Amino acid sequence: MEIIVLKDAEKVASLGAKLVSELLRVRPAAVLGLATGSTQLALYRQLVERYENNKISFSQASSFNLDEYLGIAADNPQSYRAYMDREFFDRINIDKDNTHLPCCEDGENPVLVGPRYEQMISDAGGIDLQLMGIGVNGHIGFNEPSSSLSSRTRVKTLTQQTYRDNSRLFSKTEFQPKLAITMGIATIMDARKILLLATGENKAEAVSKMVEGPVSAMCPASILQMHEQVTVLLDEAAAGLLENREYYDWTYLQNESLKKRFRLIHD
Ligand code: F6R
Repeated sequence: MEIIVLKDAEKVASLGAKLVSELLRVRPAAVLGLATGSTQLALYRQLVERYENNKISFSQASSFNLDEYLGIAADNPQSYRAYMDREFFDRINIDKDNTHLPCCEDGENPVLVGPRYEQMISDAGGIDLQLMGIGVNGHIGFNEPSSSLSSRTRVKTLTQQTYRDNSRLFSKTEFQPKLAITMGIATIMDARKILLLATGENKAEAVSKMVEGPVSAMCPASILQMHEQVTVLLDEAAAGLLENREYYDWTYLQNESLKKRFRLIHD
């Protein structure tokens, strides 16, 4: 895992956007894995800014989101489809037909959505770069603690903690789903590269378990230790409990000077 600790959340988003831009420069038809949540908002804002300044184009790109609530329609403003349209897709030049979420249409058997989504990802050639956040309980996508480390896209019940964490986004009168369809842990591990962003003190414990704890289904993000190409971008607060912090900073400096030497850095 490459662990990069930056001053604040804005710097995390900015480096994240730069890494996505670098991918699209070399691979304009990249398949992006996307996430929702508060952490990703700053990243999407920076990507939109880059698009507006003609630094980046999504015209050939396609995307697959990690998850979608089960039980609310795509046109409900609380759906992840609505979030993605509002915060990102409607503001860039991506072809909406090439953007995908594991949505269950009204009346459709939700059990069938997962295998279909897996097939679509595979038909697209697999995910080049999976962007993601991490839950306070170590979840990735909606793979909650105790999820099978070999799981694929399927229906999951949110933990009470995740339900409570997300309740801040729902008004008292709104229906808040307890179920979601999420890419599985094995689906996520199939991505060629993974870029995980975490900011804020409330993520520090989950981050420390993910990076320095044992690989365990009780912290689903810890499986990322087994992936060859993971970059974790953290702000100071989210990195607060990392014991090996000095080494990560030291490694980052070495990697940066190596990239500069071989001119691997662009903006
Ligand atoms: C959302 C998702 C979740 C979030 C995680 C962090 O698509 O997959 O795993 O990334 O819950 O959410 P925030 O950023 O709101 O703390």
